[in-house]
Amino acid sequence: MSGTMHDDESAYESKAAAAEAADDIPNNPNTERSIGAVIARRFSRRDILKGSLGVAAATTLFGANALIAGRAEAQALPSANFKELAAGVDERHHIAEGYAADVLFSWGDPIFDDMTAFDPHKLTGEEQARRFGYNNDYVAFFPLGNAGDRGLLCINHEYVNSEVIFPGINRLKRSDFSKITAAHVSVEMAAHGVTVAEIVREDDRWRPVLNGKSNRRITASTPMTFDGPAAGHARMKTSTDPEGLRVLGTLNNCAGGHTPWGTYLTAEENFHGYFSADAPDFVDKLRVAGPSGTGGAEARSYLRNRIPSAWYNWGSYHTRFNVEREPHEPNRFGWIVEIDPSDPTSTPVKHTALGRFSHEGAECLVDKSGRIVLYSGDDARFEYIYRFVSRDRYRESDRAHNMRLLSEGTLSVARYNEDGTLDWLPLVFGEGPLTPENGFHSQADVVIDARIAADLLKATPMDRPEDVQPSPRTGKVYAILTNNDRRTAARTNAANPRPENAFGHIIEMTPPDGDHVAARFTWDMLIACGDPAVAEVGARWNPATTADGWFSSPDNCAFDADGRLWIATDQGTGWLKTGKADGLYAVDTEGSLRGRSRLFFRGPIGAEVCGPCFTPDGETLFLAVQHPGIDGVHAWKPFARPSTFEDPATRWPDFEPDMPPRPSLLVVRRKGGGRIAS
Ligand code: FEO
Ligand code: CA
Ligand code: CA
Ligand code: CA
Repeated sequence: MSGTMHDDESAYESKAAAAEAADDIPNNPNTERSIGAVIARRFSRRDILKGSLGVAAATTLFGANALIAGRAEAQALPSANFKELAAGVDERHHIAEGYAADVLFSWGDPIFDDMTAFDPHKLTGEEQARRFGYNNDYVAFFPLGNAGDRGLLCINHEYVNSEVIFPGINRLKRSDFSKITAAHVSVEMAAHGVTVAEIVREDDRWRPVLNGKSNRRITASTPMTFDGPAAGHARMKTSTDPEGLRVLGTLNNCAGGHTPWGTYLTAEENFHGYFSADAPDFVDKLRVAGPSGTGGAEARSYLRNRIPSAWYNWGSYHTRFNVEREPHEPNRFGWIVEIDPSDPTSTPVKHTALGRFSHEGAECLVDKSGRIVLYSGDDARFEYIYRFVSRDRYRESDRAHNMRLLSEGTLSVARYNEDGTLDWLPLVFGEGPLTPENGFHSQADVVIDARIAADLLKATPMDRPEDVQPSPRTGKVYAILTNNDRRTAARTNAANPRPENAFGHIIEMTPPDGDHVAARFTWDMLIACGDPAVAEVGARWNPATTADGWFSSPDNCAFDADGRLWIATDQGTGWLKTGKADGLYAVDTEGSLRGRSRLFFRGPIGAEVCGPCFTPDGETLFLAVQHPGIDGVHAWKPFARPSTFEDPATRWPDFEPDMPPRPSLLVVRRKGGGRIAS
């Protein structure tokens, strides 16, 4: 989801106390200034922005490997090989010469073989629950058999743009629900979640297998269970689930992960946006203690998590989304959910051991100790990066055992030190400040309020952590920080050194001797994003990066079959500053070209690019194009008004009259066959 949707249109923000809306007072109350901030103040902001710092100072601010030119390290990975695409913005998508990018699924397409073609005028909730969902995001591919030509594709559906899904909505503000009926909400809920779909490759082309026995839609209404420390806790109990063990649905499924035992992980990101209250002053009164306050025992948690933000009016038709009626329901979202794609009757599990926050993703690996290590970013301004280490060890041929690995372990949060080290701080009840005096009475409280626990441990507030991706080849971990326009100079720190960070940056974390369980890693800045030709931006790229190749607001990333890093962007309306549509870029991480980026694909106007996912043979790349025709189209000269169902900025990818733009999953292949970018 784009930056504007995260905060600026939030009813929470508009209703909250004026102090909350102040530009530099984030929701995260951790205002401690780090050593990095001290360093930043030692150099004037002008020096930093103009890139006029000396080598020593710049190294301090950006890490030892940030001075990319001339860095001598063994070339361990080949560069991606393709002719770079020209940057720009128009109604269509574009791919590098010699490649094809074809639609595999679009919003509304049938997932089962007994269905008719999509007609958006006839869409019901029941229909939508059997069709491809909206706003496709993370993608994972699970091979079936050994031939490489058949597999299960799992795709997240993050959120909906109702004014483009439904005829006659035409709303100007997200908080205007006057035309959103129960029938609309039913479609919205069914358009969220996950699609599991079998696909097959014939004659170099992938196509859906509509009678695939694993095909499935998971929605905001699908029954799920909890495990881990919060399962069954009093704060998880509701009127319809007095045991606190069962919940309906998953929400705002952004990025995710896949496990070595063949399951899919979907991350619940901006869950706070789905909850509302009846009282118009509910949020204002959260800060009032005692009987005249609101929120009861959950008030602190609501405030810290911006609950209720009322981006949707599901609470008008389903009382569980109304926090006055069902105060614990928000505690049941914001988790990582494990889904077994091979069994369409399996019940998804929300793993509370992994903590509750706006999870962007959940990529994991088997550490050399045999434990599962999972990394997850909390995507909001000034939030944190987390690591989970399983208590038990992976067993190659014991899937039932492996399916429990995410149920128990240690959750930690990252503190980035100015000397280039980073400490993983365990979030364990009873240790340090995580005690009853600070409102924590069990590990359930710690995981439910992971953000508050991390505040107390003085973790490093980051510039909106998106994907946190370990390289299967080098073991280094890449943390994508998309941007943070509210970071002031006084609140910079070593790992987030730029005030008003409009363009984002990428941090590389290195475990010692490849030990992902270690308490201390080292870290370095790979890239500071933005236009390298504008000194004030303070961008850092390998000088071989062209005017087409630099990017802004990195979001999702993936490694290809050769271990090369690819970055997809989500600028939101920020593309109006860069003049570039969101795209997919190949980035060198090793050798003399470290920090070079090249443009491979760009999406249509108003879309972000999500879910880069390569097949193991390196011949196919899946790309999810999300919210085409939405972001920034009001200021795009050829259109200059908001998109609606009747009048969208683009009708990508169909370009048929009366068909609105459709978020779509693309399949990228090399014309004539072969590995991508080799
Ligand atoms: Fe849903 Fe952080 O992107
Ligand atoms: Ca996004
Ligand atoms: Ca994302
Ligand atoms: Ca990723």
